[in-house]
Amino acid sequence: MKNLTVSFYDTKPYDQQAFREAAKEVEGMDWRFHDFRLNAETAASASGAQAVCVFVNDRVDAACIQVLAEHGVRLIALRCAGFNNVDLAAAKAHGIAVVRVPAYSPHAVAEHTVALLLTLNRQIHRAYNRVRDLNFSLHGLVGFDVFGKTVGIIGTGKIGQVTAEVFRGFGVRLLGYDPFPKPEWAATCGLNYVPLDELLAQSDVVSLHLPLTPQSKYLINEQTVARMKRGAFLINTSRGKLIDTTAVIDALKTGHLGGVALDVYEEEEGIFFEDHSGKPLQDDELSRLLTFPNVLITSHQAFLTHEALSQIAGTTLDNLQRLQTGKAWKEGTTL
Ligand code: NAI
Repeated sequence: MKNLTVSFYDTKPYDQQAFREAAKEVEGMDWRFHDFRLNAETAASASGAQAVCVFVNDRVDAACIQVLAEHGVRLIALRCAGFNNVDLAAAKAHGIAVVRVPAYSPHAVAEHTVALLLTLNRQIHRAYNRVRDLNFSLHGLVGFDVFGKTVGIIGTGKIGQVTAEVFRGFGVRLLGYDPFPKPEWAATCGLNYVPLDELLAQSDVVSLHLPLTPQSKYLINEQTVARMKRGAFLINTSRGKLIDTTAVIDALKTGHLGGVALDVYEEEEGIFFEDHSGKPLQDDELSRLLTFPNVLITSHQAFLTHEALSQIAGTTLDNLQRLQTGKAWKEGTTL
């Protein structure tokens, strides 16, 4: 069997470690780990590889796919669940298969979601800095009991479900919105499906767990933010472009939103995952967000647990081996 060469993009030491660990017993694969991102300009670096392995901020658009096809690439293997950054139609037109990791520790993302809410609500981020500065004052650190509040989950797929189940443990009232509801699961979890407007109007906390699609882009915009309860908290651990940042900044300025926790940001490409300290931040909206004490931002790290990394590496490796052996893709992986 001919060796399979795989060109990895936007890799960090933790990715490489997880892949090398998962591939310990695997033979016949050559890895090329790149720390730069895949896009139309860098795509020629895939020359000689039959597969590319990409992450959330690689830009696999039609122009990039054209170059990949010219260099004989046959597979785009996403090492994530979301695939909004790949032009599926262009890949199909060039006969390039696209596979992903449809499920990996939904707990990683759900637990990070809850961590963000608790940190923001109880102001742990501010308290940590204060105490380190020997300031033991509690002034301005009042939060609320999560118990008894209404939590709205938008998107009740794998991650939304685990998030709802974790929140259930706090004794909250759970509302859900999803065009494809799961009534049996909802009954056991105690979640009530309601129309989106109702969820927005009634929830003290709104958490986004839906994919980014042309239909869901800017789901949270000026109009939908206005429908949210005054003082509500918004959490986004899904994709940045689900939120119109300008609308959220306006709502923070008026106090309409009580708190915003983001693991993703609409213009995160080129900023997140990298160390920009010591340089002026060029993104004015991100800069503005960072000035609010009631905004908490993490850099797309919700997936970052040992368990998730090892599952991502395992499924990606299986996807690559299927290309090598000509075996059919496992259900859910192919796009
Ligand atoms: P999933 O496919 O299991 O569930 C998505 C759910 O959203 C489905 O039930 C679907 O019916 C629903 N949905 C689709 N369009 C909707 C709409 N317009 N309104 C409401 N619901 C809608 O996906 P999973 O695994 O739960 O992941 C959700 C998202 O989380 C991914 O698409 C990805 O963008 C994001 N994610 C973020 C990570 C991070 O590190 N921050 C890591 C992994 C995923």
